[in-house]
Amino acid sequence: MALERSCLAVVLAAGEGTRMRSARPKVLHAIAGRSLLAHVLHAVREAGGTLTAVVGGLGAEAVAAEAKRILPDAEIFVQAERRGTAHAVLAAKAAIARAPDDVLVIFGDTPLIRPQTLTRIREAVAQGAAVVVLGFRPKDPAGYGRLVVEDGKLVAIREEVDASPAERAIKLCNGGLMAFAGPTALAILERIGNDNRKGEYYLTDAVAIARAMGCKATVIETEEDEVRGINTNAQLAETAAVLQQRLRKAAMEQGVTLVAPETVFLSSDTKFGREVVVEPFVVFGPGVTVEDNAVIRSFSHLERAHVGKGALVGPYARLRPGAHLQENVHVGNFVEIKEALIETGAKANHLSYIGDATVGAGANVGAGTVTCNYDGVAKHRTEIGKDAFIGAA
Ligand code: UD1
Ligand code: CA
Repeated sequence: MALERSCLAVVLAAGEGTRMRSARPKVLHAIAGRSLLAHVLHAVREAGGTLTAVVGGLGAEAVAAEAKRILPDAEIFVQAERRGTAHAVLAAKAAIARAPDDVLVIFGDTPLIRPQTLTRIREAVAQGAAVVVLGFRPKDPAGYGRLVVEDGKLVAIREEVDASPAERAIKLCNGGLMAFAGPTALAILERIGNDNRKGEYYLTDAVAIARAMGCKATVIETEEDEVRGINTNAQLAETAAVLQQRLRKAAMEQGVTLVAPETVFLSSDTKFGREVVVEPFVVFGPGVTVEDNAVIRSFSHLERAHVGKGALVGPYARLRPGAHLQENVHVGNFVEIKEALIETGAKANHLSYIGDATVGAGANVGAGTVTCNYDGVAKHRTEIGKDAFIGAA
């Protein structure tokens, strides 16, 4: 039902990354081979978000470029001054004013949000709520806004700095993600003031304002992992660890044998065929496809590479961008391959560098072989024919 409605996702991506001691905008830090922003935008796309507005601040050009790489139609807005979450949302006023059915507000630094949850929130809007809040019950509620519920109804969100001791005892907290019914969104957002301890325009005030206007506000609950927000490098690593667990579980459910799952690092876009075996200590950077019955042996590192059916890779192999291994290829220890097509059944088993090359089907590349591809000015391709034997005599 909700998916037939139009949806504008407003993604707040103005975070500066200062607590990460980094000059890069926070949302451009990556986990599992994807920027935080890209994780959020993929979830938006999967949930059927038809329109997307990304609000950047410092480093907005880089944020815009990343947003457009994922969603070419994304509209970019800039919040010049950091004056609060509601102020940030209103930077995208022009998009909200077009009155889509649903307006989702998502923080760009909460990469574990699931498309199914975005859909649940939109369904609550479709059922008549003017404001929907994603709630959760954190182990440690410090720092979060508390959801004030009276007679089973959400009546307000109180930011911790402004909360009374009784309100601070509330366990149900604001995960940050909110949704608005499009037709009333601007009327609510524009009533938000900044009369609070921080002097900021709090998005969370939307709940009490909607109530005062006679509109309905509701809570959808989810688990803590999904709303993890990232402010520090430690939180970045913790969130990455949760995401790795999700990715490993999904790979195993799909039939991949991970001999020691906790030692294998995947990217969000890693693709596996059937009956693949991955030995301990393997890293998959972005853009890797591994086809049926391939075996990736220990201590191998793969990035933007293709491993064909029945291929054997490693131990200690490095597949760099553009490595394309056809069926039953063997790549052994201390072999590095970059921008090279290794055709069916070819082997390079020991201590070799093969770059900018084609190795024909059935060829054997002996130990210690290097394809010299760069003369200091230009790159040159190496062609090794079918069934060739490059010996190390
Ligand atoms: C916010 C919520 C709080 C909730 C918590 C969940 C408000 C007022 N508070 O608090 O109830 O429990 O998230 O993690 O919404 N941002 C801008 N421009 C601004 C201010 C913020 O773009 O002027 C962006 C930040 O980059 C960030 C997000 O909005 O992505 C949240 O801002 P942050 O300051 O982290 O809010 P919290 O204090 O964590
Ligand atoms: Ca935060």
